[in-house]
Amino acid sequence: TERTLVLVKPDGVSRGLTGAILARVEAKGYRIAALAQLTPSRDLLAKHYAEHEGKPFYEPLLEFMESGPVVAAVFEGERVIEGFRSLAGATDPTAAAPGTIRGDFGRDWGLKVQQNLVHGSDSVESAEREIGIWFPA
Ligand code: GTP
Ligand code: MG
Repeated sequence: TERTLVLVKPDGVSRGLTGAILARVEAKGYRIAALAQLTPSRDLLAKHYAEHEGKPFYEPLLEFMESGPVVAAVFEGERVIEGFRSLAGATDPTAAAPGTIRGDFGRDWGLKVQQNLVHGSDSVESAEREIGIWFPA
């Protein structure tokens, strides 16, 4: 079965939305294969966000992501990568459609980073790479 890495980012955890977010993914029919809460190190985040190094939002993104606990989950199911990204909605939470996680729970807070509640892998290759980073061994 296909797997994806889902992160509830620090804004989602600190606002007490972890359960509401994971419940939507479970209710859609995907299964939790692994679950953990941790405050990620800079080293872990640099690996996870390697593709964005050098972009203007990279440093604010890493500062935000290391600011507090993150809930990391592996979800599995047929086409779960596409399915979760559909549940999450557009990257910009102001523009994300109502009915999506970002559209229902997120907005612009006037900061240099988009606090958009969740991350989901965007391909089978990135899912396997990211799962290896967040759930080693
Ligand atoms: P993820 O599921 O988190 O990967 O979101 P995404 O795939 O929709 O976005 P992407 O991988 O392109 O960027 C990773 C994260 O960087 C986003 O979730 C945002 O938090 C942040 N980000 C991306 N693009 C921008 C941008 O143009 N400006 C700002 N301020 N932040 C951005
Ligand atoms: Mg991405």
